[in-house]
Amino acid sequence: MKVFIETYGCQMNVYDSGLVMSILKKDGWMQAERLEDADLILINTCSIRENAEQRVFGRLDVCLQQKKQREGLIVAVLGCMAQRMKDKLLEHPAVDLVVGPDSYRRMPALIAGAITGEPVLETTLSHTETYADMEPVRDDNGVTTFVSIMRGCNNMCSYCIVPYVRGPERSRDPESIIRECRNAFEAGYREVTLLGQNVDSYYWTSDEGPDSDMTFARLLEEVAQISPLLRVRFSTSHPKDMSNAVLYSMALYPNICTHIHLPVQSGSDVMLEKMNRKYDRARYMDRIQKIREIVPDCSVTTDVIAGFCSESLEDHNQTLDLLREVRFDSAFMFQYSMRPGTRAHRRFVDDVPEKEKTRRLSEIIDLQTAISLERNREHIGKSFEVLIEGVSKKNKDELFGRTSGNKVCVFPAQGHRKGEYVKVTVDSCTSATLIGHISE
Ligand code: SAH
Ligand code: SF4
Ligand code: F3S
Repeated sequence: MKVFIETYGCQMNVYDSGLVMSILKKDGWMQAERLEDADLILINTCSIRENAEQRVFGRLDVCLQQKKQREGLIVAVLGCMAQRMKDKLLEHPAVDLVVGPDSYRRMPALIAGAITGEPVLETTLSHTETYADMEPVRDDNGVTTFVSIMRGCNNMCSYCIVPYVRGPERSRDPESIIRECRNAFEAGYREVTLLGQNVDSYYWTSDEGPDSDMTFARLLEEVAQISPLLRVRFSTSHPKDMSNAVLYSMALYPNICTHIHLPVQSGSDVMLEKMNRKYDRARYMDRIQKIREIVPDCSVTTDVIAGFCSESLEDHNQTLDLLREVRFDSAFMFQYSMRPGTRAHRRFVDDVPEKEKTRRLSEIIDLQTAISLERNREHIGKSFEVLIEGVSKKNKDELFGRTSGNKVCVFPAQGHRKGEYVKVTVDSCTSATLIGHISE
């Protein structure tokens, strides 16, 4: 029997899909390369914005067509939409099985239930599940990979669905994290990205007393010590919790990459308060200043939301102003999407017209694209260590990889292969890519 899995949403979901595959492989399932060849289709879903859910409904319609042609095909919805919509998803004629993110261990039994023709729903959230004893099937480039260090979120940003669909925050046993990173290194991986919704609040209480407790800064160092050839990245940092200790660890270990993803969301204190982000613009700028002081060449990237509830033109202009002040290397920029069940949904009115949200978003994107280009131009003429991730999609004679600062870099191959480190001198760039040649 063959299973096909399709993944939407963030890196956590990519990681979780690997966990599910590992659970099913132990249960005897083989992985199908194409949806058309599968006896079981899994769709691992995201609820962060309405359009993410819309896309999944489009895929469910494709699954329904498949079901009409092939008897016995089972379709399961996993992940955040499963958790948010629960039995409502079973109303879709394609869906047999709905499983939330804390119930993947039960997949073999749940699938067996679905095969008997019963609709199956399992969306219990856990305070303790971290899948610590498991390692995912890694379906990636073989060079860079993800390792989950915690699950859930306790922050309750008013616009955000994540705490409701991922449950409370819990940290994973550091021993299992370090073991998984070491195994990845031994399997040939050269870069791990440690994943959590708020990595700075990672905390593991040791049996041996508080001196042995594990903080995020210590965990980073322990992973960095596995090998100087293993790059370490992490995501996501929260401006309210990001500590100087993490910055000092970054400065101390050359293999901890010089990049911080520090979502700001808005440049307006009024909006930050309404978003329940628990920092103001001054605190955010203080974090930026500390990053530049302690890790001078650190790339900083961010997330921005345009058109949150009652956002005025003045608030919006403050976001533009913050982008100019910080000069981020790049940003993920989104139009606000009201999510049912969030605090913003209960308390505020989604009153910025869609057209105006779109206009503000495109203004933000235009500005940030220009800044990203300027930032990349600063790299021209300089050399960077690049970890090769593979062959360029556009040209098979070219390779691509990333700098420590997470800039994608493209260059002619010259006999090198993925997984190797090379020195690349940058000759030109776009707002998204550095273009260069191997200089060492
Ligand atoms: N844990 C991370 C981000 C998780 S979601 C953090 O705290 O920053 C990734 C990004 O999606 C968020 O940073 C935010 O910019 C965006 N986002 C979350 N909810 C949204 C919503 N309802 N509408 C639009 N964008 C949203
Ligand atoms: Fe959502 Fe805020 Fe948690 Fe990030 S920190 S996942 S934005 S609630
Ligand atoms: Fe990630 Fe989307 Fe869920 S961003 S945590 S997959 S809601």
